[in-house]
Amino acid sequence: MYPTHRPRRLRKNPIVRSLIRETSVDKQRLIYPIFVAETSHRRTPVDAMPGISQFNLEGALEECVPLYEKGMRHFLIFGIPDRKDDLASSAYDENGVVQMTIRKMKQEIRDCVIFTDVCLCAYTSHGHCGVIKDGVICNDASVKLIARTALSHAQAGADFVAPSDMMDGRVGAIRQTLDENGLQDVGILSYAAKFSSAFYGPFREAAHSAPQFGDRKTHQMDPANRLEALKEMQTDIEEGADIIMVKPALSYLDIIREAKNRFLVPIAAYNVSGEYTMVKAAALRGWVDEKMVRDEILLSIRRAGADIIITYFAKDLALEEK
Ligand code: PBG
Repeated sequence: MYPTHRPRRLRKNPIVRSLIRETSVDKQRLIYPIFVAETSHRRTPVDAMPGISQFNLEGALEECVPLYEKGMRHFLIFGIPDRKDDLASSAYDENGVVQMTIRKMKQEIRDCVIFTDVCLCAYTSHGHCGVIKDGVICNDASVKLIARTALSHAQAGADFVAPSDMMDGRVGAIRQTLDENGLQDVGILSYAAKFSSAFYGPFREAAHSAPQFGDRKTHQMDPANRLEALKEMQTDIEEGADIIMVKPALSYLDIIREAKNRFLVPIAAYNVSGEYTMVKAAALRGWVDEKMVRDEILLSIRRAGADIIITYFAKDLALEEK
């Protein structure tokens, strides 16, 4: 006890403080999401996400190459197709927007690691994450198309596919499909505990993926549930997920910590669009110090137990670093 113990000894100057710092945020652990559209515009800013744009193929390279040169290696691709239909056929088209982007990036950017978001919501005319029959999302029919989509991303060269649909059994189906096609080395980052969250609002503007009727509560999780999140993560690991994700991050730090304590796979957290936009909006008004608030938020996600953070801030962080 005091006076023997004086914790302030370890805080007395910045050098001592950095010696004992337990957690850090560095770009090796960040994944930068990009939105790629089939359009002639190289860059179309997303209103609700200052600093973030939709790109066409050339624009995506213009965005990613300078980040790569600053040491960013991990990119998560979201596609915005021209054509939407009831069966999301442009999601698994070998010349679809994501498939083309993967090939181009793999060609132009040496040793980048490509993750692809695997879901149907941006590709269906109704904006739902699966196939609809009589107004409900059919799990097993959706899983078939989701596995087919993952396969086409892997065949185009994706390193990891990241299913974000929350259908039951999709991780197992994807693993089996990849293995049957000789793609044992392609990994699965599963959106394992994905909550039905209002924090996805700005993203749905960016990805044109808002549901045309109803909501996503029959597949995404109830924010009130902790045990259910653990069960979802456990089943995804059993089905073959290499990395599991908690999403969103900030309102779910408790879930991240429990996952870290309990499971033996790397844990990712998605610092989602709404979390990003709140910081940007307050900073634009001069109400908070953007960099300090951002760094504190990212640190909290790491401290909670995330090994990997998917964040729109990855770009600012990479460009700021000397
Ligand atoms: C697709 C998907 C969503 C996000 C990632 N993948 C939206 C949703 O589920 O409605 C959200 C990402 C973000 O808000 O940044 N299903």
